Parts: sequence; C-alpha cells; structure tokens
Amino acid sequence: MKIVETVKELKKWIKAARNEGKKIGFVPTMGALHEGHVSLVKKAKRQNPFVVVSVFVNPTQFNDKSDLAKYPRTLEFDTALLAPTGADVLFFPSVSEIYPDGDNVGADIDLGGLDTFMEGKFRPGHFKGMAQVVKRLLDIVTPDRLYMGQKDFQQFSIVAYMIRNLDLPTELVVCPIIREKNGLAMSSRNERLTRETRQKAGLINRVMIAVKKSMDLKSIAELEAYAMKRLSTPPFEPEYFSIVDGYTLQPVTSLRDSTYVVACLAVWADGVRLIDNIVLKQP
Ligand code: PAJ
Repeated sequence: MKIVETVKELKKWIKAARNEGKKIGFVPTMGALHEGHVSLVKKAKRQNPFVVVSVFVNPTQFNDKSDLAKYPRTLEFDTALLAPTGADVLFFPSVSEIYPDGDNVGADIDLGGLDTFMEGKFRPGHFKGMAQVVKRLLDIVTPDRLYMGQKDFQQFSIVAYMIRNLDLPTELVVCPIIREKNGLAMSSRNERLTRETRQKAGLINRVMIAVKKSMDLKSIAELEAYAMKRLSTPPFEPEYFSIVDGYTLQPVTSLRDSTYVVACLAVWADGVRLIDNIVLKQP
C-alpha cells in the first residue's frame, strides 16, 4: 500500500491504474479507523481492482471546533489496519492540498434541503463542509464507485443527492453498520467514552430493535416518545429520535406514508455525541 500526500502523486497512480483498465473504488474517511471502515475497504477491494482510501480530518465539517481539536489522529495505527485489506493507496493530504485556494471554495453545493433537519439542525454547516470535501475528493480520485456506511444515514443520502444532481460519474455503494459486541455502532468517537458508558451504550441498539418490533402496534409519535424516554437513562441524553422517509428524510406520520422508513437518532454520553439508525421498512 502506497502512502501518498499530494494530489499530484495520487493522480499519477490513478492514471497508471486507468491505463491498465482498472476500475477504481474509493473510501473517504477521517482516520481513527475501526472495523466499520475496514468493511468498506474490503468491499471496495472485492468490487474494484484498484482502491484508494483517504484519511483527512476535514476542518470545514466541524461546527464544533473543540470536536475538531479532539478528533483522534492515529495514522500509524490506521496504516497497520489497512495493510491487510488490499487497499492500493492511502491518501493522506494536508489541508492546503485539499483547499489550495482557501476552504470557502466549493462550499456552496445544492443539497436539496436534505441538510436542514436532524443532524443538520443540531450541527449547522456540517453537511455543507462534508459535501464540499467529498466533491473535492471525487474530483481528485475520479472513482467508479464510492463506498459509504449506512451508519451515517443522512450523510450518504446527501451524497447520493449530490451525485444525482451534479450527474457525477460515480456509483454510491452503501455498506451495512458494523457494531461492537454489545450492539453499539462502531465509531471513532467511542474511544472517548468511559469503559462503563461504552458497555452501557448497547442500550441504543436495544431501543432501536424494540421500536422495530413494536412498530405495527404503536403510532409514530408513541414510538418516538418511547425511544426518547428509554434513551434518557443516565449517562445518556438523547438529542433526537426521528422516524423519517428514507429518501426525503422528512418525518412520516404513519408507516403507511412511505415504502422506505428509517429511525435516526443522536444521543449524548460523557460529552460525546453518538448517532445511529435502523431501517424500519425497506423498499
Ligand atoms: P468517518 O467518520 O471516518 O467515516 C468514514 C466512512 O465510514 C463513512 O462512510 C461512515 O459512514 C463509515 N462508517 C463509520 N462507522 C461505521 C460503522 N460502524 N459501520 C459501517 N460504516 C461505518 O464520515 C466521515 O468520516 C466523513 O464525513 C467523510 C465522508 C470522510 C467526509 O469527510
């Protein structure tokens, strides 16, 4: 696996792969990698002979600057985790390499309003910055396929919208959520939980499963209220639990409103913000 820090060198390797007729798979990350990320890379490698993984902690998507400062940076560990996956290139650029003309450039991408609720409401500007960096990375890597996790449901929905709206020549492949033994969705942020809270955080998945089990017996409002109540068990403090249409991300008032329904949540614990989701109805 080559570790590449400049756009110029990355483009050289991409060109060489193209000349050999290889399809290119791309997995963007912010590092502090775990088995969730690895599952994306392995899937990319199964489907494409040439795989690029980026590790870039994108400053423009952090609405909370202390979250940016605290974001773990573990390149050596990440490299070791990626080596056995068969990834061809680890792209590890500096901020000036990604934003040579300043980080306002390319920040104003139409997101169809999908960035205005749930995560968007609580993290203003986050999705603009996320879309800005994904677009910039897609322009550099020009992949045939882009791999993202269902863990960040609103994120991949927004990227899917951007790809359609800008008619980008990349297929988005969404990969399932990888969980810890107790059901907690893997996340780089889990490292910041105390051991006790991390263990207790299996509650989040149990609540989502309970909601799914009783979804035909209760109204949407009852399901949401039930989940908010159970997630209000200290040290957990829910920010939202929303049952929405999987395409538009708009709240649904009944399961019959849509063929694709997903429950999304954000919960605070130990000063860490955790997000998760479960598909209640699959199209
Ligand atoms: P990051 O949080 O590092 O996540 C990179 C990718 O890994 C995302 O597509 C995310 O959904 C996926 N992922 C994270 N945890 C997962 C899990 N437990 N199971 C499956 N997939 C998981 O998301 C970002 O970085 C950034 O916003 C980025 C898209 C790289 C733009 O900066």
